[in-house]
Amino acid sequence: MADKPKVLIVDDKESMLKMLSTMLRDDYEVRTFSSGRSGVHAFRRDPADVVITDIRMPDMDGMEVLHTVKQEAPEAEVILMTAYATVQQAVEAVKAGAYNYLTKPFEPDELKIALEKALERKQLREEAQILKEQVEQRYGFANIVGESEPMRQAFALARKAAESDTTVLLSGESGTGKELFARAIHHASARASRRFVAINCGAMPKELIESELFGHVRGAFSGATKDKRGLFMEASGGTLFLDEITELHPDLQVKINRAIQEKEVRRVGDTVDLPVDVRIIASTNRDLREAMEAGQLREDLYYRLNVFPLRLPPLRERPSDIPALVADHTGPLPLPGARRRGLPAGGRRGGLHALPRGDGQHDARLPAAVPPRGLEAHRGQRDARRRARRHREGELPPPDAQVRRGRRSDPPPGRPAGRGMRDACPPQAGARSLPGSDGNAAWPC
Ligand SMILES: Nc1ncnc2c1ncn2[C@@H]1O[C@H](COP(=O)(O)OP(=O)(O)OP(=O)(O)O)[C@@H](O)[C@H]1O
Ligand SMILES: [Mg+2]
Repeated sequence: MADKPKVLIVDDKESMLKMLSTMLRDDYEVRTFSSGRSGVHAFRRDPADVVITDIRMPDMDGMEVLHTVKQEAPEAEVILMTAYATVQQAVEAVKAGAYNYLTKPFEPDELKIALEKALERKQLREEAQILKEQVEQRYGFANIVGESEPMRQAFALARKAAESDTTVLLSGESGTGKELFARAIHHASARASRRFVAINCGAMPKELIESELFGHVRGAFSGATKDKRGLFMEASGGTLFLDEITELHPDLQVKINRAIQEKEVRRVGDTVDLPVDVRIIASTNRDLREAMEAGQLREDLYYRLNVFPLRLPPLRERPSDIPALVADHTGPLPLPGARRRGLPAGGRRGGLHALPRGDGQHDARLPAAVPPRGLEAHRGQRDARRRARRHREGELPPPDAQVRRGRRSDPPPGRPAGRGMRDACPPQAGARSLPGSDGNAAWPC
């Protein structure tokens, strides 16, 4: 069973301490003190979850107890009690971080409920803190692999970007980690507690994207049966990631430009503008200036977005990062022949992503969809070979029946069709060598 929550009670009246202790000791681990000083001293040695303190006491009053406790352990909750309540004091107490302010005499249930709620709030705050840490771990800079000089420079710039609220333009080839950086910048920024909302600007038809981004009012078009907040509104207080910005329809470029400039959006079918407060991070895998010169990106939007440009280097410019990426991405399944090739056999992402590309390009994401499945396929092929040998040796019935039984016509949800690693590798990719190795380490595609 979990330990009882710890409650520390301070009151200069022994009778009050006795009464409260009797009332609470079945459900809580209760300690009582007859002076503010002794209570605070005990709290410093062994903090409690909740402190219940009288306000008027001779040596150290309840407000001082509250201040000291909040200074020592902001996560602890404090409930104040007084027989001489004034509104001003109650306001002051709440401002100083008190959870509640009870006027004596109070019903036992009143205190019990206040205590339960205080503990609930403390627990919620702790859970929120744990989640925040997990999110930071998952989406923070620590999650991005790269020790090479180009990556160090990228990290330094991205951290600078995170300190500011300026529009960031991430550029880099496909798979260089633009989205990872966008999330990391958001999570290291002052907006981290609000939402990170991403949209791929090229993924949908213009009308759909417009209503996704800006929202619409009921009746704006057939099918608009109710009002819809757009992603600008959803990301309010947080960050909006406009992925593949050059894919955006020219009409929407005007609207986006206006939204960034005026910090206002107009929903489709609406007549008024609504204020929005979002930080924009845009990304492109093209040269944005070239896109502008080619007429694919409006000049005003180009300048509006290109405030803090950050280019992410492709793997071929930082081959020294490849081993770390492989280690990071190699899944819990042992990579076939990993030991022989001197490669790590387990990692945290469940897949081998950082394979060299057949065209000499390198992309940290290329085999993202491949690995666990690729390894399954590889194992499947190995098992098939073993089975074939056993058929030849007469240990098993003809292979056809078994192969058919094990075949899947559709890939499982979320997985690409194909037989595995070989299907996902570029056609020209044969057995390849790991750059920087002696050329003997052939990769399984
Ligand atoms: N530096 C890195 N460290 C760890 N993983 C990485 C890194 N760069 C890329 N990846 C992996 O590659 C995947 C693709 O990264 P991401 O989606 O951020 O790339 P992108 O630049 O946005 O690509 P695209 O232009 O195709 O959208 C990530 O999910 C991640 O697994
Ligand atoms: Mg992307």
